[in-house]
Amino acid sequence: MTTTTPVPAGTIRRIVELATRAPSVHNTQPWRWVAHGHVLELYADHWRGLPVADPTGRDLTVSCGAALHQASVASAALGWSPTVTRLPDPSDPDLLARVELTPAPPPADAADLLEAIDARCTDRRRFTSWPVPDERLARLAQVATQAGTRAVPLTDVSERFRADRIVLQATERYRSDQAMTTEQQAWRDRSLVDGIPSTVVPRRTGSVGAPERFADGDLDDRDEHAVEGSDGLVVIFDVQDDPAAWLRAGEGLSALWLAAMAGGLSVVPLSQVVEVPESRRAFQIEVLGGLAHPLILARIGWQAIGRSELVRTPRRAVDDVLEIA
Ligand SMILES: Cc1cc2nc3c(=O)[nH]c(=O)nc-3n(C[C@H](O)[C@H](O)[C@H](O)COP(=O)(O)O)c2cc1C
Repeated sequence: MTTTTPVPAGTIRRIVELATRAPSVHNTQPWRWVAHGHVLELYADHWRGLPVADPTGRDLTVSCGAALHQASVASAALGWSPTVTRLPDPSDPDLLARVELTPAPPPADAADLLEAIDARCTDRRRFTSWPVPDERLARLAQVATQAGTRAVPLTDVSERFRADRIVLQATERYRSDQAMTTEQQAWRDRSLVDGIPSTVVPRRTGSVGAPERFADGDLDDRDEHAVEGSDGLVVIFDVQDDPAAWLRAGEGLSALWLAAMAGGLSVVPLSQVVEVPESRRAFQIEVLGGLAHPLILARIGWQAIGRSELVRTPRRAVDDVLEIA
């Protein structure tokens, strides 16, 4: 017989609060949590999806995967070891994961992990011109792979050139697609609890830097030293293009992100290339050799030291995303 220890409600709330700090596409926060006893369940909330850009729910599930990873890291750091079962009920595809919690001593770096989850943010300001060493990118891809997905850094010059071209094409296709831009715009300055505030979106002049999805905000981003192509690029992919692979991709993205932060690096996800069907196919064939599906890209670079702190993007209240049964 196995005995279980119920998790105090305050701890459950703290775990979910930290999980909701996870990145999500357009800050849609497409998740719902249900807690009972020592079990925490993660559900996809399709009402918060993007029917135009993400009709299959790929970005949505990647976002939930990131929240699942942050919930797992937070649980362990708070003294509860998580055992995760992904997609545990074939008759309920919205139930993405069941996390069983058992008491366990927290890891030595628990305080750092909790701080990293809380501090993580998408900083779209230009990276400095310091290149990210290939070994660092390879190590971060390995961290994502250890989280159960697959990832490679695009360090080969011609491979990177092809990837950049396809990302640029995706950005242009997006801009010329009225339905996609309208949907994206609907999540800008959306509310006090979700969406992307203009205060975290750079105001750009000129064309230096990566092809920008968001470049018309209020955030000052002057940097005369910016050069093109100083960032690293890691692609998270899988041979499958299904919810199990998407969930793992989100977990990998979050693991990579926290590891990057620990090394002083900044991460910006790029998903347009995956959202635009022609670009996704081009990336699959021209960059991944036709064998695998790109699920999310991560731009990685160094932010200038001493830059102003970003305003934190808002989140829904814990009571809105958590039901304690
Ligand atoms: C699946 C996914 C796709 C994303 N796509 C992009 C993107 O294409 N461009 C971008 O600048 N940020 C992208 N983001 C970052 C989100 O916009 C960001 O996480 C969200 O606005 C919350 O802000 P925060 O990360 O600062 O907490 C993506 C995040 C996720 C999880």
